[in-house]
Amino acid sequence: MASPTIESILHENRLFAPPDGFAQTASIKSLEEYHALAERAAADPAAFWAELAQQELHWFQPWHTVLDWQPPFAQWFVGGKINISYNCLDRHLNTWRRNKAALIWEGEPGDSRTLTYAQLHREVCQMANVLKGMGVQKGDRVGIYMPMVPEAAIAMLACARIGAAHTVIFGGFSAEALKDRLNDAEAKVVITADGGFRKDKVIPLKAAVDQALEGGVPSVSGVLVVQRTKSEVSMVEGRDHWWHDLQATASAHCPAEEMDAEDLLFILYTSGTTGKPKGVVHTTGGYNLYTHMTFKWAFDIKDNDVYWCTADVGWITGHSYIVYGPLSNGATTVMYEGVPRPSNPGCFWDVIEKYGVTIFYTAPTAIRAFIKMGDELPKARDLSSLRLLGTVGEPINPEAWMWYHQVVGGERCPIIDTWWQTETGGFMITPLPGATPTKPGSATMPFPGIVADVVDLDGAPVPPGEGGYLVVKHPWPSMMRTVYGDDARYRRTYWEHIAPVNGQHLYFAGDGARKDADGYFWVMGRVDDVINVSGHRLGTMEVESALVSHPAVAEAAVVGRKDEVKGEDIYAFVILEGQYSASDELKQELKQHVVKEIGAIARPGEIKFADALPKTRSGKIIRRFLRNLASGEAIAGDASTMEDQSVLDQLRRG
Ligand code: PRX
Repeated sequence: MASPTIESILHENRLFAPPDGFAQTASIKSLEEYHALAERAAADPAAFWAELAQQELHWFQPWHTVLDWQPPFAQWFVGGKINISYNCLDRHLNTWRRNKAALIWEGEPGDSRTLTYAQLHREVCQMANVLKGMGVQKGDRVGIYMPMVPEAAIAMLACARIGAAHTVIFGGFSAEALKDRLNDAEAKVVITADGGFRKDKVIPLKAAVDQALEGGVPSVSGVLVVQRTKSEVSMVEGRDHWWHDLQATASAHCPAEEMDAEDLLFILYTSGTTGKPKGVVHTTGGYNLYTHMTFKWAFDIKDNDVYWCTADVGWITGHSYIVYGPLSNGATTVMYEGVPRPSNPGCFWDVIEKYGVTIFYTAPTAIRAFIKMGDELPKARDLSSLRLLGTVGEPINPEAWMWYHQVVGGERCPIIDTWWQTETGGFMITPLPGATPTKPGSATMPFPGIVADVVDLDGAPVPPGEGGYLVVKHPWPSMMRTVYGDDARYRRTYWEHIAPVNGQHLYFAGDGARKDADGYFWVMGRVDDVINVSGHRLGTMEVESALVSHPAVAEAAVVGRKDEVKGEDIYAFVILEGQYSASDELKQELKQHVVKEIGAIARPGEIKFADALPKTRSGKIIRRFLRNLASGEAIAGDASTMEDQSVLDQLRRG
């Protein structure tokens, strides 16, 4: 049965034309212009990207081959030498932007800091030299486990500057999850902070790093600690260093390494359908170009814009659209440490008013939470500086879209609903605000140069209005290059679900979608065992592995259950080992155990103890039935393939 969100998307037919102001000043000014550009790009994507790469970025040395495509492995701008930190910083220094605000930061307790391009450059060079002093060399990996403070962006840019790959691990992940990711990446150094402020509490980040390293991460030889909360932390002699101590004597001169376009820029872990998160690999040149162009055209960036993306740098949105895309364009990017919390539920509107934010980019789950809090909070603030809004992370239901449009955007701001993924590096399907009429709930059409479609399992396009699999048919510059250390998993996960058609390989995104008669894409959500909780991606197997690592649990099955605010919530069915009996205390203990293994984002909303799980005769769990049970629906489909039909009755009685 389709969820209420999908139902409302299926019946949506409103159309919002780009406001006149946008159509006059945007880079791409009309639907005709968009179609002409998209057609030209699709006819020869390599030539299209090469022209933009030449125009928009600084290269130390030109490439000899635009695209080397050995499916499913792509290389872009082969032979080119580039540095993304140079493109984000140095090249602005000889222009008037030298003293423009690059980063405006607001801390949760209300402290704030603004760094101009020159100041940001200086700090990045200093941190780059500090990292070198700690033995970090080109090609090494550095873990970043930070709160949302300027040093998080400085750390990323410092790594990029010296050619070390960063792997940012979201500060909400547990010590256990941190350890696994540091080990997979074989990080040499970890950059962290004493703590971070979140929801009026201090998150003890350094303590989590200590715990992760005690658990065994042999590759790590040094820890760089930023002072944020001034909380008590223990420093291990010889291993741990305060950033402010080393910064005091660090040189601010550090030329950017000339990197190969295909050198590793970062690894970012994301959940898949197995228990082990995968390290998504992004390289330098193509990623720089693609995040630059998508930021420029989709956000229609102007020099006097104040742009704010509410994501955390621990996710791809933070990488591409807080740090690299905005800075490469010489924009002013706002970074906010806090999230709406009981002590200040309207904090987002405060930030918009305080800094005169003009472009605001957030997630549907946040919008739905604001709707619940009522219109009074945004209405109590002056939001008239806003001119453009964006959303990302999950399908937006038309009701939330309309509220965003009316209450936040004052009916004057276009909304760009951007569909993309950690793997794609940047926006794949998005309106261009001067050109694309929008429909609430639709991410509209592909970015120029992206050839996307909705197909069946044989790769054949499905007729308009029918559901199918969302695929991309031509490589693009910021596509992931592989799963770190696991080419076979990369191939299996993304390129083998749907067979090549006439020799053309199709990238399978894991999402279901439909295309309407106007060619607009409507993304319906994941079709694999990945759930989307408040825009955070979690593998059901990952949560199941966490549950079964508790001694009381014999077997666990996890499904997503529709949630009004979070989109989906985690619902776990658990079978206990014989000597344990069900109790509320044990439920709490198991929820806490998942928090310890993964982090608070994975805490199950509900745990149900069961005697058995519905399985096929060959022993496969029938998740479809579990999803029905979790959301209190009737069992949909044929139960006759089940090994033991009484299992469903027992679960229903619960
Ligand atoms: O299911 C899609 C959903 O988020 C998934 C990607 O998650 P992640 O890699 O964590 O990146 C999130 C930020 C880019 C997708 O497979 N998703 C993301 N944006 C949208 C979306 N679903 C519908 N509409 C969107 N705009």
